[in-house]
Amino acid sequence: MSITPSSITPHEGKLLVLTPGLGSVATTFIAGVESVRRGTAKPFGSLSQLQTIRLGRRSENINPLIRDFVNLAPLEDLEFGGWDVFADDAFDAALRADVLKNGELAPLEDFLRTIQPMTAAFDRAYVKRLDGPNVKQGGTKKDLAEALREDIRRRMDETGANRAVMVWCGSTEVYTRPSACHATPEAFEQGLLDNDPAISPSQLYAYAAIQEGVPYANGAPNLSADTPALEQLALRNGVPIAGKDFKTGQTLMKTILAPGMKARMLGIRGWFSTNILGNRDGEVLDDADSFKAKEVTKAGVLDSILQPEVYPDLYKDLYHKIRINYYPPRGDEKEGWDNIDIVGWLGYPMQIKVDFLCRDSILAAPIVLDLALFMDLAGRAGRAGIQEWLSFYFKSPQVYEGHVPEHDLFIQHLRMKNTLRVMGGAEPVTHLSESIVPEDASY
Ligand SMILES: NC(=O)c1ccc[n+]([C@@H]2O[C@H](COP(=O)([O-])OP(=O)(O)OC[C@H]3O[C@@H](n4cnc5c(N)ncnc54)[C@H](O)[C@@H]3O)[C@@H](O)[C@H]2O)c1
Repeated sequence: MSITPSSITPHEGKLLVLTPGLGSVATTFIAGVESVRRGTAKPFGSLSQLQTIRLGRRSENINPLIRDFVNLAPLEDLEFGGWDVFADDAFDAALRADVLKNGELAPLEDFLRTIQPMTAAFDRAYVKRLDGPNVKQGGTKKDLAEALREDIRRRMDETGANRAVMVWCGSTEVYTRPSACHATPEAFEQGLLDNDPAISPSQLYAYAAIQEGVPYANGAPNLSADTPALEQLALRNGVPIAGKDFKTGQTLMKTILAPGMKARMLGIRGWFSTNILGNRDGEVLDDADSFKAKEVTKAGVLDSILQPEVYPDLYKDLYHKIRINYYPPRGDEKEGWDNIDIVGWLGYPMQIKVDFLCRDSILAAPIVLDLALFMDLAGRAGRAGIQEWLSFYFKSPQVYEGHVPEHDLFIQHLRMKNTLRVMGGAEPVTHLSESIVPEDASY
């Protein structure tokens, strides 16, 4: 197995992880990283921390950790910053989110209190169920974007970071489609000056990041950096972008189960998914327009994996229904039920029931960590624009126009690891060599 030297700039100095939104996911991520750094917890769910990568043939037994092979920034080098419409510092925000136990949070209090939210660029028209005092006032959208750029620079100075990445962990904004101001970078900049109502707060953060050379990933389902204007700007500025909507919970299960059914050529007649959740995210999603954004990112998954146009007998009439119900008693401990009506040999019906008692932010936090580290890697490797190889982490992978998003978790995983192999200077693994009879076989 040969490795050619890779062209990734080594990580040196501190990496600032910026999160618009300092709610359940962001605080669970930050508190979790600090616990891992102190050696009091393990980073379960994080490929960047735990997974190995096989190089060469299986028999060569070369399996370094991903983080060593591609030289990811170590957790010790991470600094944090965030914005929120509420003024709570990361400790109070984590207490209110009620995801991590008090016993876990109390030792981290001093550290978490140092992370004060910067004032948010916020517009209630985009998140109807939310209102808070910690919001930038006045000016045009251009002024707001410039203020966010200043925030990025100031926080980098304060923390002594020489690089930053941004992961949107803010509430889900209402469902919108790209409009004229999203067609080109120039139209977008004119829209900022004109206060175009089609430019949402999350787009201001994305724009500010891209202008500051900061990689941007969108963890929510709303329209953000996934417009021609910001995609072109990212390419022009040499900045990686990725999205959208963290793949956790029910959609994660869907993209694990559906490829298995398809691989075995089992038919599916119906897939009914319903959830109850009671965190602030659930409250925001109780608004029909925010739910619409979520529904759209969740719905495309099955069609793309099952290919009903290629397998009409198996999947053409599949009835796919998704429900999210806000139910306060459950807090962050979401419950997702799936009823799957499948069809086997000679058309005989069978059923699968899934009852996933999950913890939303516990599933999302390692995704934020991995995205932050891999987006930083992409930046250091000079990979600008959409990072399709990170589709693994998203419900609705952002791809270039004309590309087909891949939803199958296993194909996404293979692609991601092969991209990492290539970035690290090794050969991609095809699994073909394993079936060649060795020359020294004694039969
Ligand atoms: N937890 C999961 O499993 C999961 C999965 C996929 C996507 N997501 C998405 O991740 C996002 C965060 O989820 P959460 O559970 O942490 O929600 P949350 O409600 O706990 O936190 C979101 C925070 O964003 C803040 N906010 C809203 N608009 C803002 C703005 N313009 N600027 C700065 N702050 C803003 C809110 O005040 C809130 O504190 C949501 O959009 C959610 O849909 C979460």
